[in-house]
Amino acid sequence: PFTPSNHHQQQPRSTTIQSSQTLSTRKELYEKDFPLYKQPVEVGCFSLDSQRRFFSDDRQIRYYVEPDKSPNFDLRDGYKDRYVKRDENVKERLDHILRWIITNLSKLKSKGTTNSSRALDFDFVTWRGHLTKLLTTPYETREGWLLAVTRFNSTLYISEVETEAARRERENRPERNHEMMYWGYKFEQYMCADNNHSLPDPSGVVNTNEAFCTVVHTRLTDHKLLFSGEVDCRDKDPGAPPPPACYVELKTSLEICTPKQHSNFHRFKLLKWWAQSFLPGVPRVVAGFRDHGGTVISVDTFPISKISQLIKNEHNCWKPTVCMNFCSDFLSFVKRVATEDNHSVVYLFSWEPHRDVTYSVHRDSRLSFLPSWYTEAITS
Ligand code: A3P
Ligand code: MG
Ligand code: MG
Repeated sequence: PFTPSNHHQQQPRSTTIQSSQTLSTRKELYEKDFPLYKQPVEVGCFSLDSQRRFFSDDRQIRYYVEPDKSPNFDLRDGYKDRYVKRDENVKERLDHILRWIITNLSKLKSKGTTNSSRALDFDFVTWRGHLTKLLTTPYETREGWLLAVTRFNSTLYISEVETEAARRERENRPERNHEMMYWGYKFEQYMCADNNHSLPDPSGVVNTNEAFCTVVHTRLTDHKLLFSGEVDCRDKDPGAPPPPACYVELKTSLEICTPKQHSNFHRFKLLKWWAQSFLPGVPRVVAGFRDHGGTVISVDTFPISKISQLIKNEHNCWKPTVCMNFCSDFLSFVKRVATEDNHSVVYLFSWEPHRDVTYSVHRDSRLSFLPSWYTEAITS
């Protein structure tokens, strides 16, 4: 029987031999030319309402409102009495993306008769967040991951499985961390309006069931990707460029007071911010810098295209090319490994820091994640 923790195969720490059964995550191996990454194109969007119900439209989109120079937002406000938190015990896997695909099948079905077994013209379908984890893997030293892969009608579906360690951490999260997770969403409420002619309403309820998601198509080297990612808000100017160029990612971060904090911000935070927004082609991050008490002191814009310049002064810093080359090589590894086209077979890719990526194969197990409503709708 499967348990996420007993599937990790141990390898020697410093092998230089690349077995075809594993994939190295050593960053030196990925310091090559920047790989082809086509400009992401939005092919659609969907919304999840206050009860996490799916709608194939943009009803949940919000509009970015430029804040004051020194805003003094109190991020703690409403935590006790105006907070509805999404149930993290519910595992949605790829369901919302699959629902979107089924709803939009007529505009997605591949044209022509050359490849009849292929219902969709994509090599991979996944969440943006799973790809973000892949991009940052060569630099990650704390948290491993598990990615379940199923090949179905020649498309590879990638869905994350929570590790034992992540589940333990989630179930033992200190109260302080619960409150700090709320702060990020409260910041969004201070910065976003529901219409392009209204203002933010900080007296309202923060409900983390609500989401607006973009669905984008792009290509990384020879991998055609379809993925979806949650978008915080958009430019409210109707003359703004079309999506995803009008989207804005919101972040909070502790104010930077010491050289050490400055260096950590560049080395760790900007890596995560860059990876998350670069993938769907979101051009800017607007960051609220807060004190320890949860008051936002200042707000700053970080254009994604400027981040690689910003970090160049940092010694031993991360490199975008390493992130993208590792992701491309991982996807090639997945294509080589996951060969059986079967909706109930799962190839489970597993990684722990300082180890290689390994995998195991599971048939008709509780890891299978493609629902019958999906496989039946695609096949008919
Ligand atoms: P911050 O980004 O300000 O930290 P996102 O930035 O991706 O839109 O996510 C919105 C907020 O969700 C985050 O705000 C944070 O509060 C919370 N959040 C997202 N991912 C998280 C994670 N892995 N752990 C803790 N909080 C998380
Ligand atoms: Mg978000
Ligand atoms: Mg955000």
